[in-house]
Amino acid sequence: MDHVTVNEVGLRDGLQNQRVVASTENKLSLINALIAAGVRNFEVASFVSPKAVPQMADASALYNALPSKDVIHYSALVPNLKGYERAVEAGARSVAFVLAASDTMNRKNINMSLEQTVAACGDVIRRAVNDGINSRCYISGLFICPFEGTIPDERIVDLATNMFAIGVNEVIVSDPLGVANPARISRLFDLLSATLDIRDISAHYHDTRALGLANVWAALQSGVRKFDSSIGGLGGCPFAPQASGNLATEDLVLMLSQCGFETGIDVGKLREAVKVAEGIIGRSLGGRTMSWLESRSDLLPITF
Ligand code: COA
Ligand code: ZN
Repeated sequence: MDHVTVNEVGLRDGLQNQRVVASTENKLSLINALIAAGVRNFEVASFVSPKAVPQMADASALYNALPSKDVIHYSALVPNLKGYERAVEAGARSVAFVLAASDTMNRKNINMSLEQTVAACGDVIRRAVNDGINSRCYISGLFICPFEGTIPDERIVDLATNMFAIGVNEVIVSDPLGVANPARISRLFDLLSATLDIRDISAHYHDTRALGLANVWAALQSGVRKFDSSIGGLGGCPFAPQASGNLATEDLVLMLSQCGFETGIDVGKLREAVKVAEGIIGRSLGGRTMSWLESRSDLLPITF
């Protein structure tokens, strides 16, 4: 069966934007619930300024307490070499850097121009290559920047090509505003796969305009086999206006299972993880499939 890797980003992309600052203990209970459902890949934290993102201030403590580090793949977001060093000291074996595709988005996110961000990302990747640490780079902001307007697809391809040339292991094509649509996604991935190895490229979508799953389908057709998602659709980005929830893990896993892809994740058990996440942030959550999962999952089989 065709395998798809699902990378759970709720602990980072989801929790970074919540009013409630989740405790380390609560984060661990969510991680354990997700592991029980079969999740094996996580972005669990970011080593950023605790003043900028207080929800991630416990990144080192969380890393120290992570379960099953030998079998679970954990990654952490880092915005600069300082973050990289903090992450590696805490035991991270995989780091991710966010490179926004427009000047203004980089300035809002990490206070650097696009050119400076490309240089900073290159510095982190080179250090990771040297230290034997897995490195991943988000190329974030597809098609349109809320501040600058249209972003040409060629810029995404150039940035990805540049990062692979430096030695990054994976590029994550990221749509934090949820503006992507399947037609544009097909064009972009066809362009990327013309010169780059699609197996090293993953996709990160937000479901703002209800096109998250359609965009996954378009990327699957282009050969993409790695996707980010967030339990219960938890998410949003504090630095990107109008960014709403991420594509929900339960929606992604259900669609993949129904379409015959193997993820190793039990969608029924994800329902339990959604409940844990709801308990932590104190409001109801859930992707588009949640009400169906609640009411019908025992009556109808998922695959038929
Ligand atoms: N971890 C912890 N602290 C950090 C840090 C890191 N990776 N990088 C910088 N800092 C600290 C500095 O030590 C300094 O602390 P001080 O005020 O106590 O002296 C302070 O942050 C400012 O440092 P400076 O280098 O001037 O950076 P800045 O003010 O331009 O901020 C970032 C840059 C990247 C640190 C900050 O904007 C940030 O953390 N942003 C979060 C980005 C994010 O999480 N985005 C979400 C991804 S979608
Ligand atoms: Zn995101």
